[in-house]
Amino acid sequence: MSELRPTEILLSAAQIQKRVAEMAMEIRRDYPDDLHVIAVLKGAFIFLSDLARHIPGHVSLDFMAVSSYAKGTTTSGEVRMLKDLDTALDGRNVLIVEDIVDTGLTLTYLQQILSNRNPKSLRTACLLSKPSRRKVDVKVEYIGFNIEDHFVVGYGLDYDEQYRNLPHIAVLEP
Ligand code: PRP
Repeated sequence: MSELRPTEILLSAAQIQKRVAEMAMEIRRDYPDDLHVIAVLKGAFIFLSDLARHIPGHVSLDFMAVSSYAKGTTTSGEVRMLKDLDTALDGRNVLIVEDIVDTGLTLTYLQQILSNRNPKSLRTACLLSKPSRRKVDVKVEYIGFNIEDHFVVGYGLDYDEQYRNLPHIAVLEP
């Protein structure tokens, strides 16, 4: 186990649930009929499960896994595809679901490769965004919370694979 520990609760479980429900309704309003949701593993798995349950009506799901070659709390900028989608995107309204947009490099890579697969539309929903950390100007249509540059864990986000199971978002400190 690491020496870093989650300390301050940045976003409580109740705050997250309220915001995720709002995002789900906004997404359904924009896509009343067809919606194909792509979750980016691993971090998005809890956000996806809550978001999907708050979207009424028809939704199809698929999963991708990518790794940013991150070591500890820093990101290297390189993105590697670990698992591709199971189904094609031609003519579908596609929503990428991410847990966090930090430098924006991972999402830029995902948007590039998915837009090349001829979706009818392509948008992105992320729970957390750190605008101060952006290295590339990436478009995110649905943002849960803009946060300061803290290293955060919980609700799917990890530090060395720990803390993904926390129901809230906490700041990791020594
Ligand atoms: C996190 C997160 C995003 C990416 C964002 O994934 O899920 O995919 O980093 O960082 P960026 O904006 O700087 O590219 P991570 O590589 O930690 O993998 P995980 O989702 O499996 O935890």
